[in-house]
Amino acid sequence: MDLLSLDRNVSHDAPIVPEHAGEIGTTAHQGVVDEICNLNWRDLSADELTNVAWAYYFFSKQFCQNVGIARVLFPDDQRLEELDAGERNTDNLSPYPGVVDSGEKADHDEFMRRTLMLSPIEESRRRRLEVLGSAYFDTVYAIDAVTRAKSLATYEDGGLEAVFRSVLQAQHWDTALLKAFKHFLVGHVALDSNPETGHGALCRHIVPTRDVVQLWAAFRDILIAAAPSLKAKKS
Ligand SMILES: [Fe+2]
Repeated sequence: MDLLSLDRNVSHDAPIVPEHAGEIGTTAHQGVVDEICNLNWRDLSADELTNVAWAYYFFSKQFCQNVGIARVLFPDDQRLEELDAGERNTDNLSPYPGVVDSGEKADHDEFMRRTLMLSPIEESRRRRLEVLGSAYFDTVYAIDAVTRAKSLATYEDGGLEAVFRSVLQAQHWDTALLKAFKHFLVGHVALDSNPETGHGALCRHIVPTRDVVQLWAAFRDILIAAAPSLKAKKS
């Protein structure tokens, strides 16, 4: 996919109107968000929560890529530039011991990658998770760049915040990895939640396409594949 060849001649005054018939501007993805939030987060073991952190790392990679794609598609959009500054090459989660030093800037997926390194897992388990990640990327990379760029509001304007609050219902956060993951989640709830100055406010002018549901479904599927107990009946 050559991002630089994509059409840049899009009006950057709010709202950014999608060019093709797949545009929705609705909450069609909300059903998948609700499905994720209604999973059995509370009863998750520390091991399965660790698997969720791995799955989230793969998600965070595609998310940071989506921010980059959006910047290429809409290079003059100052709100996206501001959002980018809060997601990539940022110190807004710094410091965190063993992950980032005070004032150190890193992309958020790099924060997650370093988080995973805090509590190494056995090789067979890591390989299983990497296979899931690889299948997830196959799905994501098959989705068009416009949909990926325009997914941002569905993530940042309440979608991920709801997911993060659900994940935080888990009871076991006792390993170094899980403590850092919790720092990431709590930090993101704060970053995304302010209705005026949060990340949602910086991208809600971008109307998502219908296919954004596929991105959310892929996220749901990797979470459940990584931690099958999420589907268990709640106690
Ligand atoms: Fe954000």
